Amino acid sequence: MTERKKINLPYLFQKAQAKEPISWLTCYDYPTAYLQDQAGVEMILVGDSLGMTMLGFDSTLPVTMDDMIRHASAVRRGAPTAFVVGDMPYMTYQPGNEIAVKNAGRFMAEAGCDAIKLEGGAAMAPRIQAIVDAGIPAIGHLGLTPQSVAALGGFRLQGKSADMAKKIADDAKALEKAGAFAILLELVPDRLCKMITERAENCIIMSLGSGPDAHGQLLIYHDMFGLYPKFKPKMAKVFGNAGEVILNGLKQYVSEVKSVTFPAPENWFGMPDEEFDELKKILK
Ligand code: KIV
Repeated sequence: MTERKKINLPYLFQKAQAKEPISWLTCYDYPTAYLQDQAGVEMILVGDSLGMTMLGFDSTLPVTMDDMIRHASAVRRGAPTAFVVGDMPYMTYQPGNEIAVKNAGRFMAEAGCDAIKLEGGAAMAPRIQAIVDAGIPAIGHLGLTPQSVAALGGFRLQGKSADMAKKIADDAKALEKAGAFAILLELVPDRLCKMITERAENCIIMSLGSGPDAHGQLLIYHDMFGLYPKFKPKMAKVFGNAGEVILNGLKQYVSEVKSVTFPAPENWFGMPDEEFDELKKILK
């Protein structure tokens, strides 16, 4: 077991100030959360990407608050010391401040999260402010925001032109002013990410596919280990092909069942002769 202390906001700000990059990964289940906590991952995102990676939908839009609470609670149980962030699913905050605060509160009260994340720029600043005013730490998410993928024209780089980049920089300032303690920049050019990080005054900037010059990095766990069969984003680095290892193991299992090489004697339990003889007598 790691002996590390529970990670909190002062720890994260201290790392950002010291320019020690913060590690952040997605996670959706107890055993993976356990491994991530043991490995020293500092932040965990229970992302609504679980709609795709765990539930097999083609987008994140069908994910509900109840789905998120179930998975976030499991992650919290597996990762007692990481800083766990609950990702607010589609239409659980967009309609208004009241519903946003209520659902953010569910992540804290029911799942034991440390913070929430929501997508969107200046238009979502009032939601961030209401959630922060309710005492809940909030993270913004700009650039490629999967809940708006239809409006953005697909899973592609955002903020390539100066005008679009300025909009993202302005949105980051608006979220910071509204009280977001961190902002995730997904798939924006590295130089824009660097600029926003340098301009941030009291806000931790995290990068997903946006280059090295942020306060930390986020990756999608399933992309890191070859566990999502439908596609592998260019920005993801594969740290090990667990998908291949599991597939080979499964094929071997099928083959051993068919050839009756599994189970072997060490995989079952016997019964003493006298008990078995007695059983036969009773059953006669
Ligand atoms: O749901 C998620 O995992 C996310 C990432 C894509 C950043 O929001």
